[in-house]
Amino acid sequence: MSQDIATIRVTRYRPEKDGKPYFQDYKVPYRKDMVVLDALNYIKAHLDGTLTYRWSCRMGVCGSCGANVDGVPKLTCASFLHEFKGRTIKVEPLTHFPVIKDLVVNMDENVTISSPPVSTACSATPPARSMVLTRSF
Ligand code: FES
Repeated sequence: MSQDIATIRVTRYRPEKDGKPYFQDYKVPYRKDMVVLDALNYIKAHLDGTLTYRWSCRMGVCGSCGANVDGVPKLTCASFLHEFKGRTIKVEPLTHFPVIKDLVVNMDENVTISSPPVSTACSATPPARSMVLTRSF
């Protein structure tokens, strides 16, 4: 299987050390089946062990790998590198959340899971649970 080289431009930021965020570029060899999360894992394992980001399920379920990929909020485990062929892929933390380090944001106080409203009426379709994102400053 052939490999191409992707340029991954990642936001680096350690609030206790850096005055402001900056970009760092990494060259990552990749195959057609690799996703942005694979590139971050490659960087962490082979190029720069200080890169910090989150992931868990690697199946597009948990949402912990969310980041802005080329300016669009995406799951890095579901964003294929070959879709960006020939371009530098910019990976940034999600907007509107305080950055803890690099791509890791603090969502602790911003996410509330609300239960469906209690009702005594019979309904064919129960109301769905909803996730409410709130912004605090
Ligand atoms: S790692 Fe769980 S959605 Fe990507």
